[in-house]
Amino acid sequence: MVDDNKVNTGNNIEDKKLIVNARKPVGELGHQILDRMNESHELMAQWGVSHFEIKPDSKILDIGCGGGKNIERFAKQISDDGKVVGIDYSDVSVEKSTRFNREFIDKGIVDVLEGSVSKMPFDSETFDIVTGFETIYFWPDFISDLKEVNRVLKKDGLVFFCNEVVYREGEMEKYDDLVELLDMKIYSQDVLEYSLEKTGFKDFKAYINDENGWICVTARKI
Ligand SMILES: C[S@@+](CC[C@H](N)C(=O)[O-])C[C@H]1O[C@@H](n2cnc3c(N)ncnc32)[C@H](O)[C@@H]1O
Repeated sequence: MVDDNKVNTGNNIEDKKLIVNARKPVGELGHQILDRMNESHELMAQWGVSHFEIKPDSKILDIGCGGGKNIERFAKQISDDGKVVGIDYSDVSVEKSTRFNREFIDKGIVDVLEGSVSKMPFDSETFDIVTGFETIYFWPDFISDLKEVNRVLKKDGLVFFCNEVVYREGEMEKYDDLVELLDMKIYSQDVLEYSLEKTGFKDFKAYINDENGWICVTARKI
């Protein structure tokens, strides 16, 4: 029976098999969910990116780049002096992001790499901006992974995360099925602030989209 109070995780096993790919897209269903997320996350992403500035020469890293829509968005805003790098631990996401951004890769302003946030193949202090859209729910060790994000950012560099779901006391029961299916962690604004301050960031700011309940946060590397 479908419980109307729960966030829909698929009313049949085929839907569940698709949705579970949001954590780490694999195979044909992985391709399908990435196409879907490139569209379904678009309004939230547009709202989120309105909270920080990109310069023509910005070096930007998008972690958990998925289908590559945000890589494309950033690539359209930089000059030949800038760079956008996408990283994702799913080979299907890397394939999709690569195909989606072929024009910018050929132009030399975009790279897409396979790898985990936990140990990234970049020199320290490489990027001006690091972004993560709908991905931190799945990071294996948030504090340690934030330290790795901090390492690859330049001093004063900006970290930005955007999530559709934020932890709110007494409102989380509806996400029980989703949390179990995707083995995800839903962070509160307070935990995000505490975690970023603990891992070498300052100037924490949080923005809530009242209409949809989305959250995005920014902070700078000390
Ligand atoms: C829900 S999708 C979001 C994709 C894209 N950012 C978007 O907003 O449409 C989550 C993505 O994060 C990636 N991901 C999850 N954990 C990761 C990790 N530890 N390291 C790198 N990528 C990760 C997944 O493979 C997936 O592509």
